[in-house]
Amino acid sequence: MKYDYVIVGSGLFGAVFAHEMTKKGKKCLVLEKREHIGGNIYTESTSNINVHKYGAHIFHTNDKDIWDYVNQFVSFNNYINSPVAIYKDELYNLPFNMNTFSKLWGIKKPSEAKEIIEEQIKNSGITEPTNLEEQAIKMVGIDIYEKLIKGYTKKQWGREPKKLPAFIIKRLPLRFTYDNNYFNDKYQGIPEGGYTLLIEKLLDNVDLKLSVDFLDDIEKYESMGNKIVYTGPIDALFDYKLGMLEYRGLRFESMEMNSENFQGNAVVNYTEEHIEYTRIIEHKHFESVNTDTTIITKEYPSEWKLGDERYYPVNDAKNQDLYNKYRKLAGEKKNYILGGRLAEYKYYDMHIVIRSALNAVRKEV
Ligand code: FDA
Repeated sequence: MKYDYVIVGSGLFGAVFAHEMTKKGKKCLVLEKREHIGGNIYTESTSNINVHKYGAHIFHTNDKDIWDYVNQFVSFNNYINSPVAIYKDELYNLPFNMNTFSKLWGIKKPSEAKEIIEEQIKNSGITEPTNLEEQAIKMVGIDIYEKLIKGYTKKQWGREPKKLPAFIIKRLPLRFTYDNNYFNDKYQGIPEGGYTLLIEKLLDNVDLKLSVDFLDDIEKYESMGNKIVYTGPIDALFDYKLGMLEYRGLRFESMEMNSENFQGNAVVNYTEEHIEYTRIIEHKHFESVNTDTTIITKEYPSEWKLGDERYYPVNDAKNQDLYNKYRKLAGEKKNYILGGRLAEYKYYDMHIVIRSALNAVRKEV
């Protein structure tokens, strides 16, 4: 059978596109090279706990249409992300807010916190930041930088913050209220039953083949559809002929523990440089699961090499320039639609990916 669309990848972009087109009577085939659907939002149920296998995922958006869209398929709980950070055995609330400032300096009033931060920024003498360290200090002062940003950033990027460009940190929000809700968005939550259920619902009536790599036999798969929707890495589509786009990698170390509650929170950051992981995720707290055991995951940033999972694109000038060249090549493939985080070489939050897939559908019909 000839499909209207062969969709490469069963992540959010591919699944939303496939769902919408199938609803419109188009024949779609989804090819997925992994053994499971869902791309990086995949959750796996272990001992009744939904484990976020590719990193913690919290759905948040201000876009009511997108919120209503996902809620047609699954119910979302009222999880609010309130991570904490540990530095030298002291615990600090995130994002940086009055709870954090009170713990740092023993103060209670917003005016006192503002005064301390402004004084520290002034004393730093930084006017034109030339690197990430200076940029951060100019935004939040020395104490917050030293305790909560420096070590974490160094681990995350594998480089001294002084050697990283200033543009990486564009904004460091400071909140002068006692509010630990990490996101400012109106809608927030976790799908009850995990993200895999959301993707299952999206792909309900769609033909799907798992463990199939489109790039292993491009001609064969191209001939199966009138159009190809490609959500894989853009450089791989062209066999890396112009060079390889760089990513920052992650390594996850998970363990089940004979404890009902290990850390009392879903996300705990470790901001000291000598602790190799950046955070510990305790998955059961995303859905308030009541079980005798718990599953935690330590997250270690790593150098990325070909063959590793791609996590964070390195959007510096060199990589962006290379991406633009690949994008130009992709423009010549007239029956292709490229979308999602890998084909667009972009860090994309989930609600933005959904919006982008819906836009691609609209453009098609
Ligand atoms: P995704 O990578 O999910 O899907 C692409 C699919 O294509 C994969 O399944 C892949 O196997 C498949 N594929 C690739 N090449 C193929 C080939 N040749 N043949 C067949 N299949 C192929 N967002 C948010 O809103 N809140 C959050 O809390 C987080 N947290 C978060 C943590 C971390 C560590 C990261 C890196 C990212 C987040 N995100 C997030 C972002 C979120 O992960 C992202 O928006 C979606 O996964 C993007 O979905 P895509 O479909 O674009 O890509």
